[in-house]
Amino acid sequence: MKNSISRRKFVNRTIGAGAGMLIVPAAAGLGMQSKNILSRPLIITSHANDTGKNAMEAGWEILIKGGSAVDAVEKAANIIELDPEDTSVGFGGLPNENGVVQLDASFMDGKTYSAGAVACLENIKTPASVARMVMQHTDHVLLVGTGALEFAKAWGFPEENLLTEKARKIWLRWKEEMSEDDDWGAPDHLKNIMKKESYWRDFPDIEHHYGTTNVLAIDSNGDIAGCTTTSGLSFKINGRVGDSPIIGAGLYVDNEVGAAGATGRGEDVIKSCASYYMVMRMKDGRTPQQACEDALQMIVERYKKVNPDFYPREKFVAISRYGELGCATMNGSRNPQMSVMTDKGYTRFDGTIAYKGK
Ligand code: GLY
Repeated sequence: MKNSISRRKFVNRTIGAGAGMLIVPAAAGLGMQSKNILSRPLIITSHANDTGKNAMEAGWEILIKGGSAVDAVEKAANIIELDPEDTSVGFGGLPNENGVVQLDASFMDGKTYSAGAVACLENIKTPASVARMVMQHTDHVLLVGTGALEFAKAWGFPEENLLTEKARKIWLRWKEEMSEDDDWGAPDHLKNIMKKESYWRDFPDIEHHYGTTNVLAIDSNGDIAGCTTTSGLSFKINGRVGDSPIIGAGLYVDNEVGAAGATGRGEDVIKSCASYYMVMRMKDGRTPQQACEDALQMIVERYKKVNPDFYPREKFVAISRYGELGCATMNGSRNPQMSVMTDKGYTRFDGTIAYKGK
């Protein structure tokens, strides 16, 4: 006991000594080795476009002033949610089969292991903020549908129309072309999805139909937080919930290890508990990059048994508590990049295309 206390005091003094080359030892029982702190504070998002950059700059403003990872993550997620041009998240997201935008989001605080989430939330532009309220003001983790909306309204979130003209026109075009290839039917991994994909080749300018965003941050205290927010699968069956609001699937955060988030086909991510798996891989000593690739490999290995041609389009991101980065995609048509903001400024981190598929 005496030894462990003096070790902790030593660590605290080391961390307080200055930025740049801080040493953090492995937490008791973890496979992670002692490493230099590469970057702290730090914020990343899976959105590698201009909105992602704006989101990172806004989150960074909070972190650099000593603000919390929770506040920085919420601010950054809100910027992406409020972009009407982004058809994958929040306001402007593509609707379900009935033309109704239903949003999913989760929030997790790696310091307290608190988590909150909402699913099938309608008429609220910033589901990430509602998920944070669930995390901080209830003893529950997940609120859905009308219950989530009632909760949001009780906390003063205004009800607004989320269906933009752009999203409405894309939805109408989908209805015109609706066929046996819509989302009623057998699971995608049991059928030939190439035919279905042809619809999306007509819309090269819009985000992939499973588009989502992850935001992960470490603040100057070393506390880690994360959020995943999405409008979910476009034209989904009314009431369908993806991986984004499922803690352990679309998001997992642990101060002692790091954080991970998922975008892509939520059904695969739920069945593989991918974000929890990535964090556990890092706990076993894998880097965030390796952890992202390990999770993709796990999914490929499983589907090989039933449909060797099926490569779903997941994209995984992860950070370790040391500030290491990871990003990997399943398919070559998805960009294996993420936006990163550190004291060295804004960069786009190049991950790997771990599995190209067909
Ligand atoms: N990953 C987002 C979704 O499947 O809903």
